[in-house]
Amino acid sequence: MDGLADKVVLIAGGATGLGANSAHRLAREGAAVVVGDLDGEGAQRTAAAIVAAGGRAVGAQFDISDDTSVRALIAVTVDTYGGMDAVHVNAGDMGSLRKDTNVVDIDLAIWDRTIAVNLRGHMLVTRHSIPVLLARGGGSIVYTSSIASFTGEPRRPAYAVTKAGINALARHVASGWGKDGIRANAITPGLILTDEIKQGADPKMLQGMLRGTRSTRLGEARDISGMVAYLMSDDGAWINGQVVNVDGGTVLR
Ligand SMILES: NC(=O)c1ccc[n+]([C@@H]2O[C@H](COP(=O)([O-])OP(=O)(O)OC[C@H]3O[C@@H](n4cnc5c(N)ncnc54)[C@H](O)[C@@H]3O)[C@@H](O)[C@H]2O)c1
Repeated sequence: MDGLADKVVLIAGGATGLGANSAHRLAREGAAVVVGDLDGEGAQRTAAAIVAAGGRAVGAQFDISDDTSVRALIAVTVDTYGGMDAVHVNAGDMGSLRKDTNVVDIDLAIWDRTIAVNLRGHMLVTRHSIPVLLARGGGSIVYTSSIASFTGEPRRPAYAVTKAGINALARHVASGWGKDGIRANAITPGLILTDEIKQGADPKMLQGMLRGTRSTRLGEARDISGMVAYLMSDDGAWINGQVVNVDGGTVLR
């Protein structure tokens, strides 16, 4: 893809799963990558694997729900590579997802934690990234949302609300700073078979998910990292404020 070589990219939530795969993909495109995650050792592992494969990366521990910690991660990015050109805001509290029952029963602590990580955290990364991107003449922010943001389900209300909020956040940022050279887009993945999901998955559930697609297979992490790279590259330079569905045709919009 054009225009990713030597760009500085922050992955906010890149120890495992989709974020780790995006970090690898962007490094293969020639970007210098900072991998931030609550799981500091996992972030270091992802960065070390990128370096072992010939790329440029550093790992750092941070908590996306904590304002000071988010500021520090962005400072590490700027101090390490001299600035920042793009951010993949990807962290999600997948532990809370299992307890995200329904709006009547949900433990308020689970609701609050989901909002803190999946929505407020994405807002914190956004607000502290914008001035740094503007200092480079603009840049690209790519959020990981979900098809749960528009499908409607009897469970997972906190998750769906945060993902719908992310879609709105992307539109807000595109509207506010598009003229200054900042693009903000959200990717809405369907079920993606990350290594973590493959491990615990019930084969019957996966077959059911496959039936729900218009595809020959379920999603893989490379389906999302390819879109992340595209949206950050010059090939995606005229895409702004969009919610891009990558789900094998599960949802037609
Ligand atoms: N895998 C899927 O099928 C799928 C589908 C739609 C959307 N998503 C979204 O993709 C993103 C990544 O999910 P994944 O499947 O790769 O799961 P994952 O658990 O592998 O990745 C989530 C990452 O976020 C990190 N994280 C959690 N809380 C954090 C915090 N407070 N501060 C910093 N980092 C934190 C985790 O440590 C982890 O590395 C999530 O936002 C998820 O909602 C995933």
